[in-house]
Amino acid sequence: MKIFLDTAEVEEIRTVARWGVLDGVTTNPTLFGKAGGGSYESILSEICTITKGPVSAEVVAEDLDGMLAQGRSFAKLAPNIVVKIPMSETGLEAISRLKAEGISTNCTLVFSTNQGLLAAKAGAVLISPFVGRLDDINQDGMIVVRELVEIFAVHDIKSEVLAASIRHPLHATLAALAGCHIATVPFKVLQQMVHHPLTESGIKQFRADWDKAQPKGNGHRSAV
Ligand code: E4P
Repeated sequence: MKIFLDTAEVEEIRTVARWGVLDGVTTNPTLFGKAGGGSYESILSEICTITKGPVSAEVVAEDLDGMLAQGRSFAKLAPNIVVKIPMSETGLEAISRLKAEGISTNCTLVFSTNQGLLAAKAGAVLISPFVGRLDDINQDGMIVVRELVEIFAVHDIKSEVLAASIRHPLHATLAALAGCHIATVPFKVLQQMVHHPLTESGIKQFRADWDKAQPKGNGHRSAV
């Protein structure tokens, strides 16, 4: 499963890129608002210098012409920009029109399997079911992920399922187990995925045992 970072914070993206686990980035207007510093376009351009993977840029226009204009403008920023279009009747049309122009899209705000299926048929390369927001209203968000993964496999649909609205490490594990193609993960959740208390205590213990095992005052080298 590919890991995307769900953020518009450039320093978080640089950090995860250094870890060697970054496959792409998703942004949205809320994440842009939290990041601060510069226009959305300048932040997107900078992100595209850090990763060659897909970088999702979300339109805010609700009419077709506005969606198309924003989408075309984002697509000019870098070759790896994927235009994020919210699911709706107009959104489907925008996805279809942008596909005809060779512009890749990510259909966002997907909350049902049928929405995801239609978005794929319209031509979105990424389909984003929002797991956490469904969980929030007492529905199992992972069901949509599982069903879309299965339907895309059965019908040989080339779009990729991108599990979004990931709130904790278990969501990432369950998405991977479901065969989901991509999970987009907030930086904090990715850090939670890295750490384990037994790893931390194990590192401390090994270092302490190593130090104890060093002969004293005979010129032998210690670890550092
Ligand atoms: C990413 O593509 C989505 O916009 C994001 O995962 C939404 O997450 P949230 O439900 O935590 O806002």
